[in-house]
Amino acid sequence: MARHLITSALPYINGVKHLGNLVGSMLPADVAARYLRAAGHEVLAICATDEHGTPAELAAAEAGIPVEQYCAEQYEVQRDLGERFGLSWDHFGRTSRPQNRALTEHFAARLCAQGFTAVRSTPQVYSIADGRFLPDRYVLGTCPNCGFERARGDQCEQCGKQLEPTELIGPRSAVSGSDQLEVRESAHVFMLQSALAPRIREWVDAQGDWPQLTRSIAEKWLDEGLQDRGITRDLSWGFPVDPEVFPEAAGKVFYVWFDAPIGYLGATREWADLVFDADAAQTEFDRWWRTDRGADDVTYTQFMGKDNVPFHTIGFPGTILGSGESWKLVDRLKSFNWLTYYGGKFSTSEHRGVFMSDALELLPADYWRWYLMSNAPESDDTTFTWQRFAEAVNKDLVATLGNFVNRTVTQVVRHFGEQVPEGGEPTDVEDEALAVARERLEEYLAHLDALEFRKATSALRSLWAEGNVYLERREPWRTVKEDRDRTACTLRTALVLAVVDAIAAAPFIPHTADRLGVCLLGPDPLGRDGRAAVLDTELVDRAVAAIRPGASIAPPGLLFEKVSDEQVAAWEDRFGGEPVEPDQPVTS
Ligand code: MF3
Ligand code: ZN
Repeated sequence: MARHLITSALPYINGVKHLGNLVGSMLPADVAARYLRAAGHEVLAICATDEHGTPAELAAAEAGIPVEQYCAEQYEVQRDLGERFGLSWDHFGRTSRPQNRALTEHFAARLCAQGFTAVRSTPQVYSIADGRFLPDRYVLGTCPNCGFERARGDQCEQCGKQLEPTELIGPRSAVSGSDQLEVRESAHVFMLQSALAPRIREWVDAQGDWPQLTRSIAEKWLDEGLQDRGITRDLSWGFPVDPEVFPEAAGKVFYVWFDAPIGYLGATREWADLVFDADAAQTEFDRWWRTDRGADDVTYTQFMGKDNVPFHTIGFPGTILGSGESWKLVDRLKSFNWLTYYGGKFSTSEHRGVFMSDALELLPADYWRWYLMSNAPESDDTTFTWQRFAEAVNKDLVATLGNFVNRTVTQVVRHFGEQVPEGGEPTDVEDEALAVARERLEEYLAHLDALEFRKATSALRSLWAEGNVYLERREPWRTVKEDRDRTACTLRTALVLAVVDAIAAAPFIPHTADRLGVCLLGPDPLGRDGRAAVLDTELVDRAVAAIRPGASIAPPGLLFEKVSDEQVAAWEDRFGGEPVEPDQPVTS
């Protein structure tokens, strides 16, 4: 049994997340967490809402409520949706909680003590019309690098270059559109990434387990040369800087990107405080995060969209390494390309695309989980269309898994009643079917170990398909007339395959897998032999032992329903099903 810490990029508090957010971080993290738990490991899966920063401030202002209240409400909304999607976090926290504040202050103070901070007076953009300083991304203008006209003051979306707002040509306010901007001097705390660069590079070079997408992004940044980064802002919403540590920057708050990743630790601390008493809480927290206090055997896996990679390979590791303390760093960093909506961006502010709340209104979570993971944008951007969604549901869930289970259970009930058929001895044909299932299962598990989700879903799909192949070969609906024992053995074997299918599929479609598992194995979710539900290479043999002749089963009913052409047409109509121009507004 190994120990696995799993985090997914923390979703911004402002607004319900869309399917692109979900598939790029929270959903794959959940699949991994469920898989590792099922394989018998100790898992801690942590997520939280990312609450600071200007987007939250502006969204609250628009809603006409204080930002604290806005965040508290939206946190509940996101937690509820996540749970309904089956996201099995051990804890879903909030970056604004006191635990995170203490840790944020701690890291800032450590960086200062280690000589990795400096307070510098910097020119900041002040919007006269808006009566406030504008954070980087709220200044728009033309990119000095590539000429893109809607570049943001923090980064150009077209060429990817990291920018300062003062570098933009023809700057204007993204809040009001006003070009009445002026530059005012303001003192800010900087993290000296230039000084941390050698340590960060040494650490990056030592990471053997990173996928290509992750590594190339990190190396590109290092090769371009790391700039010192301001970690405070002129805002009111955020954790205030400790004036005793940074007297010149008193009154500033920490930049959201400084305290957000520390939120992984903060949310773990929330979890520990909830679950354990005061002394044990510290020990439990340390066991996951302090390599000098028990976390040295933890494998830490992070999930995120590719835009988040620089912060997780450079910025946050810089904070950790710069502290001079023995904190756990990420071991496996799985990043995703974009899921687009008909080739364009999903957009929260324009409400374009399908959002978590819309999705659950239409169909149960497992439909979405399967579609999203079997089309996850792993090696390339992938586009959502209703047609593709319908195809994934109809071909895989309905015609392959659903059809196999339904045919099997219908034949069992019709000819043998609600119990595992008795009689008959397995032959080479059964051995062969089980051997093929074992092979597919091994292939599937290897892909899950490698965090290759699309490959895992195709191995799973072929495992499911084997059930139908076996039924076609044995034709129980025909043999029942002449050879009852033969038929009993066939259907018993098919039930074994159905159990294997269900348990194997649980990380992707947990609700369906549970339902099927309970129907075939009884209410004890671990199965009658106590270990049937463990997801490893022995699963087929345990399923054989768990499906006992004469044991009662309950028909699960239809597992999935087909998505019809009429539904596709109606949803295209409601959500928009037209390709859009790639040049979209700056929001995400
Ligand atoms: N809220 C950010 C986003 O959605 C992700 C923050 S990840 C964290 O892009 F680690 F910083 F929390
Ligand atoms: Zn550019």
